[in-house]
Amino acid sequence: MSSSGQDTSRGQDTVDWPALRAAARAVMERAYAPYSGFPVGAAAFADDGRLVVGANVENAAYGVTLCAECSLVSALVGSGGGRLVAFTCVDKHGDTLMPCGRCRQLLWEHGGPDLLVETVRGIKTMRDVLPDAFGPQDLEERS
Ligand code: THU
Repeated sequence: MSSSGQDTSRGQDTVDWPALRAAARAVMERAYAPYSGFPVGAAAFADDGRLVVGANVENAAYGVTLCAECSLVSALVGSGGGRLVAFTCVDKHGDTLMPCGRCRQLLWEHGGPDLLVETVRGIKTMRDVLPDAFGPQDLEERS
């Protein structure tokens, strides 16, 4: 157990998924999504038990938009780094949303294959959600 009381072991049964969902729904309410009208909230536990959250932040130059996962990863790095161990993402109805392809790559970088991800088909790992991923290891092994 960490000081926050969150068990950081990797078993999915030990993760407080309801707390994670509640945090994702709360931050979704603070999204800046005036162009799409599609607010997204993301929440994750880091390996020290820290809760990190993020919402999407859109821009008049549409392509500059930051996904909720981008904000979450920035929050992770800015609050001390570490590894993501459990992640969820919700749409404006509070329902589970799959991370887009680009964001799966971001999650892979900061959580790796064992990161638990809440999906529309239940809890899976990143190795299921992004099979045969390219990652930091490829840079080491193939350079
Ligand atoms: N969006 C996210 O924040 N995360 C995703 O994984 C999927 C898409 C946002 C980006 C944009 O602001 C809105 O959803 C519509 O695409």
